Amino acid sequence: MRAIAALLLLLGLGAVALALREGPSQPGPAAGPPPAAPPSGASGAGPGRTAPPPGAPPGGAGAAAVPRNLEGECATCHRDRQPGLLAQWDASAHAQAGVRCEDCHGSDHEAIFAERGRVPASRCAPCHERQTQEFLASAHGRAREGAVGNARLLAQVPAMQRRGCMGCHDMGRGDEGRCNGCHGAHRHSAADARRPEACGVCHMGPDHPHIEAWESSLHGLVYRATGDERQAPTCATCHMPRGTHDVSGGITIGRSGSGAVLEGEAMPIPMKRIRAETAAAEREAMLGRCLPCHTPRQARAALEDADEIKREADRLVLEARRLVEALHAEGLLDPPPEERPAHPTAGHALVLGGPMLYENQSEAERIFFDLAKFAHAITFKGAYHQSPDYTHWLGLARLKAGLEELKAEARRLRAGR
Ligand code: HEC
Ligand code: HEC
Ligand code: HEC
Ligand code: HEC
Ligand code: HEC
Ligand code: HEC
Ligand code: HEC
Ligand code: HEC
Repeated sequence: MRAIAALLLLLGLGAVALALREGPSQPGPAAGPPPAAPPSGASGAGPGRTAPPPGAPPGGAGAAAVPRNLEGECATCHRDRQPGLLAQWDASAHAQAGVRCEDCHGSDHEAIFAERGRVPASRCAPCHERQTQEFLASAHGRAREGAVGNARLLAQVPAMQRRGCMGCHDMGRGDEGRCNGCHGAHRHSAADARRPEACGVCHMGPDHPHIEAWESSLHGLVYRATGDERQAPTCATCHMPRGTHDVSGGITIGRSGSGAVLEGEAMPIPMKRIRAETAAAEREAMLGRCLPCHTPRQARAALEDADEIKREADRLVLEARRLVEALHAEGLLDPPPEERPAHPTAGHALVLGGPMLYENQSEAERIFFDLAKFAHAITFKGAYHQSPDYTHWLGLARLKAGLEELKAEARRLRAGR
């Protein structure tokens, strides 16, 4: 198949070659996003559009003026139009290796407009099979799926869904996955992607402050001082060893979102489950990544302390959950779920954790959201990333204070004040 595709490309049949490379089971370039997906990518006309794109200069070479098959013509025309993009391209390994624009975009300009210039991971696969498979197998390959059906996404206007959620989550979903989250669309540089800042674009903020925790740890300090990954670890050192694109390796109960519990253990809010044997094997894999710089006992002790901190945080969230459930059973939530606008996926049921909204809720639930979505996550994510301040003051201290606030609210409600 690859040989035929290469031959077709040589013969100037780029679009046909691309379709062949992608295989029959995948949507062709002009198919547009799947119907279940939220409006993705840029705003504007929907799939199948052939009209001039927004921004085409008046009277200039709009979309209608662009000939359909442009094999080999791309850079000439686009160098004048987007000189910055071409500067990125000229500096890339792709340009030096003779990779061409149409290898990623195809050469049918109508199809390019119809897909709004998007380049799914399946276009990279023929040349980078291993990275694509690893990426699709990891949490990054599911990043889109995780957000698409989430109630907090459904509660947003479409532009906010596109920019506010999918801005970080439009990284994966089977063959719709995109590779430019870390690489930059035309530099496609491995060195750029290794920088912690490449991860920090998404791994930041109150529910997953990874870049902040790492920066404020001794790891961040020594890396800033030396810029040398042999002396201090970056995100890629621990999560993408030897260039693997499966970032889910080496993770146990400290998973994304609210983390996980071992199979058989109770979960205070929706979390993932992991078998004890799998967790033990993943832990050994992670410890192996610490050994160039630490002794096994120091590294193991640090991660076991983080496990203990995660379980303590889970226990506090469980206590908070029981309290809110009791208030609900006593009819004290104001307004009660039955009298509020329906939750997008749970209707009038009480939702705590998981797809919980941060709007249309009682004061008790607002306090719960803050401690379960933010303080709980900050505590254990800070601990796994060796940041004392995120672990304690910005994490656990807020979690405990939130629980006290919730208790005070319960006393107030029960006293009818
Ligand atoms: C005759 C000039 C011309 C040629 C040749 C040309 N393009 Fe374009 N291309 C345009 C114009 C005009 C636009 C609209 C954006 C703009 O005004 O720059 C565009 C837009 C695009 C976009 C963005 C689409 C979007 O919806 O934002 C991509 C990707 C693209 N071209 C790739 C290519 C590729 C790949 C080739 C070669 C196969 C190519 N172009 C050849 C003129 C050209
Ligand atoms: C290795 C793959 C690859 C190659 C080769 C490539 N591009 Fe792109 N291009 C991308 C990706 C990825 C995007 C971003 C699309 C997305 O967000 O899905 C993009 C986007 C674009 C856009 C829209 C930019 C914007 O932000 O408005 C234009 C125009 C474009 N490419 C032109 C070109 C031209 C011209 C060439 C050849 C000089 C080229 N591309 C070569 C991967 C590639
Ligand atoms: C037609 C084949 C082809 C396609 C399609 C292709 N690449 Fe490449 N890529 C190459 C070649 C050739 C090199 C340079 C040789 C090497 O280092 O392996 C390269 C190198 C790279 C590098 C390393 C650059 C560096 O800094 O050393 C990255 C990252 C990369 N490609 C990402 C992508 C992504 C992401 C896509 C899809 C959007 C893609 N490539 C599409 C052929 C391709
Ligand atoms: C474009 C946004 C984006 C960028 C950039 C990004 N990530 Fe992620 N990452 C995500 C999202 C979204 C998830 C959660 C996916 C899910 O669980 O549904 C995630 C999950 C993860 C996980 C959790 C894996 C698991 O199984 O629990 C790790 C580890 C991770 N990313 C590491 C990295 C590293 C390292 C980098 C930089 C090299 C990086 N990410 C760059 C968006 C991003
Ligand atoms: C989470 C961020 C992230 C995403 C998403 C990502 N990459 Fe990478 N990529 C990296 C990092 C970091 C490196 C550098 C690895 C190293 O040198 O250890 C890299 C390196 C590469 C290389 C160079 C390989 C080498 O060993 O030199 C290729 C090729 C590549 N990526 C392709 C892809 C493709 C294809 C996709 C989408 C399927 C993709 N990448 C998505 C972070 C990412
Ligand atoms: C010194 C190694 C190390 C470095 C550096 C590191 N991580 Fe982690 N990361 C871990 C460990 C250990 C876990 C939890 C493993 C477990 O579940 O047992 C983890 C977990 C994660 C998770 C899952 C949620 C969580 O926090 O528990 C994400 C996402 C993540 N890391 C992203 C990043 C990003 C982004 C960076 C860089 C800013 C980074 N990590 C730097 C070791 C590291
Ligand atoms: C700044 C980037 C960013 C924005 C904006 C963002 N997310 Fe995330 N989201 C992430 C990252 C990174 C992770 C995984 C890291 C972690 O949780 O430790 C994640 C995790 C998640 C998870 C948990 C997945 C799991 O593995 O359990 C869900 C669900 C989610 N996001 C939905 C959304 C929704 C819905 C929106 C919009 C209302 C949104 N996100 C906005 C970056 C973002
Ligand atoms: C590339 C080298 C490197 C790797 C890999 C590395 N570290 Fe570190 N670590 C350092 C440096 C440098 C410091 C700064 C303090 C020092 O020199 O001991 C440090 C400090 C720490 C500290 C704080 C020690 C203290 O005295 O408070 C902990 C905990 C830690 N690392 C855990 C880990 C764990 C767990 C891993 C693997 C998941 C890991 N480190 C991987 C280099 C590394």
